[in-house]
Amino acid sequence: MDKKTLNDLSWDEFDELRDARPAATEFDKVVESAISRRGFMGGVLAFGSGAAAFGSGLLGSAGKAAAAGSAFPFEPIGIATDFDIHVPAGYTWKPLVRWGDPLFSDAADAYSPKTGVSAAMADKVFGENTDGMELFEVDGKEVIAVNSEYANPEINLPEASEGTPQSAEEVMLLKNIQGVTIMEVANTGNGYEVVVDSPYNRRITHDTQMTMDGPAAGSALVQTKADPEGMSPKGTMNNCGSGKTLWGTYLTCEENFNGYFGATGDYAVTKDLERYGIGGEARYAYEKFDARFDLTQEPNEPNRHGWVTEIDPTDPASTPVKHTALGRFKHENAEMVQAADGRVVVYMGDDERGEFIYKYVSNGTWAEGQPTDGLLSDGTLYVARFNDDQTGEWLALTSETTGMPIEEVLVFSRMAGSKVGATTMDRPEWITANPMKAEVYCALTNNKNRGVKPNAGGDETPVNGPNPRETNNYGQIVRWAPEGGDHGTTAFTWDLYVMAGNPTVYDNTYGGSENITEGNMFNSPDGMAFDTTGLLWIQTDGEDSNEGEYAGMGNNQMLVGDPETGEIARFLTAPNGAEVTGLCWSADRKVAFVGIQHPGGSWPDGHGKPRSSVIAVWREDGATIG
Ligand code: FEO
Ligand code: CA
Ligand code: CA
Ligand code: CA
Repeated sequence: MDKKTLNDLSWDEFDELRDARPAATEFDKVVESAISRRGFMGGVLAFGSGAAAFGSGLLGSAGKAAAAGSAFPFEPIGIATDFDIHVPAGYTWKPLVRWGDPLFSDAADAYSPKTGVSAAMADKVFGENTDGMELFEVDGKEVIAVNSEYANPEINLPEASEGTPQSAEEVMLLKNIQGVTIMEVANTGNGYEVVVDSPYNRRITHDTQMTMDGPAAGSALVQTKADPEGMSPKGTMNNCGSGKTLWGTYLTCEENFNGYFGATGDYAVTKDLERYGIGGEARYAYEKFDARFDLTQEPNEPNRHGWVTEIDPTDPASTPVKHTALGRFKHENAEMVQAADGRVVVYMGDDERGEFIYKYVSNGTWAEGQPTDGLLSDGTLYVARFNDDQTGEWLALTSETTGMPIEEVLVFSRMAGSKVGATTMDRPEWITANPMKAEVYCALTNNKNRGVKPNAGGDETPVNGPNPRETNNYGQIVRWAPEGGDHGTTAFTWDLYVMAGNPTVYDNTYGGSENITEGNMFNSPDGMAFDTTGLLWIQTDGEDSNEGEYAGMGNNQMLVGDPETGEIARFLTAPNGAEVTGLCWSADRKVAFVGIQHPGGSWPDGHGKPRSSVIAVWREDGATIG
């Protein structure tokens, strides 16, 4: 790690700098012989006692069904190690929009293969490092809202800056090339294109004016010199996963916001700053040019980030709203469903090693055409406890249960979760709900610290039911079914849909669950979405060296899983260096839009800088694709 510059680090590695893992553990040495693969499968079959609660096969029967024949309408593809995209025979793809492509005609020449995008044009083009996205049908048009999670300073800034902004203008460039893009798209007969100059087109950046609502809005914890009322935060940042409300607005989720705050002098290192990884060296040096990001000037500014933010994609003049009732942590995405009585339920993961899974339940109810006031500002936040016997419970985070004032519960949700004994998880990434039944899936991407060291709040992280492997480099997908098939209840049962692994390297739990084979193996599940046919699409953000523990896994990829049989098949491979993240479909379901973040080489142009892009994928015979 010493040889890497700050910009080379993943967000995970960046946090690691301040909270290092022990270099080697006893467990590292014995991991290969710890548990036999045979022994593990016995354990999973034992999980079958919970099968009745799910009404579907668990992993044991899943493996048998998968062997009987594929349920998927495509021939699974092999791995790739090149700098291109691969899809099954009978499918084709093309870029929809690349970093730097214009949203407005006055930015037609904004992108240069040599120098990228200028500061003046950065908020008129598609942002860098695409992530979560959703498609909305607005007055017969198709509008995509899509996140730009972060910027690679070395790609965006002049070479002489060596990856660190040297002026306020360079900081502005980085601020404006991240955030959210709203863009109209249209089918031109050969895949889709962005409708340049559409009245819906909009960029939302680190400086866009927002408002806040919910119990923590206006509290002392979110007041700053620039906003003494604590109601008018600026900017949404590190926009990772996404969500779509039942009423047709976009939810953008602020993840690794900690990396944007630094200090130009001494400041108080508090427990809450530590829990959220704030302080020390910032990634972007914003604090040198903008007092808002300087902890010595505005110590409460970080408390105004790490929220789920709602944006109305139908109204470019609308003001985004940060919903404090949904808690503050490193939000991955926000999956909204409805309780049987009409209350709104939002499932959310906190992507950090040993952090928690949450859900929010509104007090009010909603039905088509009814007002939405208060639905995301007046409710209860819960955190998940998973028991080893495959039951679980949602624990309310209130003043009564935590002994903390409600604004503290929401601003410091991680500490509230620790107080009630939430289960530490292996980095919760995307959560998606099965449209066919009350069942929810969460990708637990990996956690090298499992069984090795506590989380940043000091909670011990021994192996537990849904996180059963120490030093977990491969990840797994946990799923749960709420009691009575009602997302509004607080009890659930759970099982593991898949444990990723490498059966060619390990003959134990690290070889993966029974539905993992040499032909479909992958590591680090991250993005997930169900399609309308009830299939689960799984995107990966993992190690793509194709060596050692990862030999035979190739580049990051997108797979399709059958929730009933457990079968998983590879559908798409990404260019080397990239993760696959973000997935939505055209209104007619004939085109899938897929995000390709931080590609390597010169993808997709074949020359110049690599360009993070959204691609369109469709069947050559014109049939639907989910
Ligand atoms: Fe931005 Fe947890 O991925
Ligand atoms: Ca992710
Ligand atoms: Ca990830
Ligand atoms: Ca990412």
